[in-house]
Amino acid sequence: MKLPSQAEVALDEFFDGHPVATFAINRHHVITHWNKACEQLLGWTRACMVGTRNQWQPFYVKERSLLCDLIVAGDTNIADHYPGHSHPSTLIPGAYESEDFFPNIGESGHWLHFTAAPLRDAEGNIVGAIETLRDVTERRVAENALRKSRDGLEHIVEKRTAQLAHANDKLEDDIRQLTELNDLLSAAQQQLVQAEKMASIGQLAAGVAHEINNPIGYIFSNVGTLQNYLGQLFDMLDAYQEAEASIAQPAVVTRLRAMRERIDLDFLREDIPALMRESGEGLVRVRHIVEDLKDFSRADNNQEWSRADLHQGIDSTLNIVANEVKYRADVVKAYGDIPEIECLPLQINQVVLNLVVNAAQAMGEQRGTITLRTGMADQQTVKLEVEDTGNGIAPDALSRIFDPFFTTKAVGKGTGLGLSLAYGIVQKHKGRIEVDTELGRGTCFRVLLPIRHTEEQT
Ligand SMILES: Nc1ncnc2c1ncn2[C@@H]1O[C@H](COP(=O)(O)OP(=O)(O)O)[C@@H](O)[C@H]1O
Ligand SMILES: [Mg+2]
Repeated sequence: MKLPSQAEVALDEFFDGHPVATFAINRHHVITHWNKACEQLLGWTRACMVGTRNQWQPFYVKERSLLCDLIVAGDTNIADHYPGHSHPSTLIPGAYESEDFFPNIGESGHWLHFTAAPLRDAEGNIVGAIETLRDVTERRVAENALRKSRDGLEHIVEKRTAQLAHANDKLEDDIRQLTELNDLLSAAQQQLVQAEKMASIGQLAAGVAHEINNPIGYIFSNVGTLQNYLGQLFDMLDAYQEAEASIAQPAVVTRLRAMRERIDLDFLREDIPALMRESGEGLVRVRHIVEDLKDFSRADNNQEWSRADLHQGIDSTLNIVANEVKYRADVVKAYGDIPEIECLPLQINQVVLNLVVNAAQAMGEQRGTITLRTGMADQQTVKLEVEDTGNGIAPDALSRIFDPFFTTKAVGKGTGLGLSLAYGIVQKHKGRIEVDTELGRGTCFRVLLPIRHTEEQT
């Protein structure tokens, strides 16, 4: 027997003290080395292992080849013995690695990572194998936990994504509904503002009309009486003038003549009746305005709701305004098939009249066309259009045309009450007035009226 050389002793001690669990076998698969770390990790002592072929024992219940055995046996299909767990080492040629779980080691089993490498002699022949094992339980457990929590997270993310997508869809839907609602609201608000304006102006107009009505009444009658008196005075003057010839005193005659020339009696005789006539006409106009104002403000309770043929109303109204229209425009009737509508017929006529007069007045030098078109807007609503080829409405005026007293016409020609009156009447019928207009091209007023009248729900 050969004593171990100093180098061999040092190698043994190095092997034994190496902190990684390591063992080695010779070409006969007999264990030659089994270090301290190995004893500690596996719980099998060097004494019971070295010299045996029991390297499988700490790991398996039945005998089987370990990586080192396969290397020594020169097996080329190592992967077949450890399906899924082993692969050739990327660092050491001829070495293999594997990783597996061993339920029998320790209290609740361990994950071990093996690396086995061949030991060769000077000629390169395999004379044994060395195998190290590392406990990778912690890493494995952490990996598992990580995988689990990642799977969990992925699941949560998937769920949240789905929830978010759903919420997003709902939000989009809500936004769409809100936008629609908003549009409706602003339209309703516009109508309310206009209605409110009309209501307060109506009150104002009623007050003004009432205040003006009385004085106008007595001025009207006084002017009539005054005209009478003036007639009588002139007759009297005539009589005096005739008597002038028989006045004997020349001084008196001269004075009378001088005075007549000074006051220009002949002119007065002509001018006073003209003044009276003008005043009378002015008064008639004021009276009309007051009437219009009263109409505009009054909810006209003494009129009856009744079914009426709109076409008949339009025709009779056109007769009334024939004088206003015939020198300026041709009238085209494009009547559709519409039922009778429940309305205040005289007031609807008033609307038509105001629209037609406006259309006629919108014509410039050139003769134009006024088209009166009727038809159904929907099943419950009739529409009446008054379209002209006139000069159109400027954008800045458009928002004010329904305001009482808003007029772009010369003094005496427009009162600015026509459209506000029409607006109030249509409102009372729970209808609508719409305007399309283009400067220089013409304007179309569209009146929408419900076929049935419904009382205000309160
Ligand atoms: N068909 C139309 N074409 C052009 N402008 C119009 C038309 N209808 C109304 N307008 C404008 O609206 C204003 C108000 O009309 P309205 O209330 O009838 O008062 P008025 O006719 O007395 O001026 C008019 O002065 C005019 O500027
Ligand atoms: Mg008018």
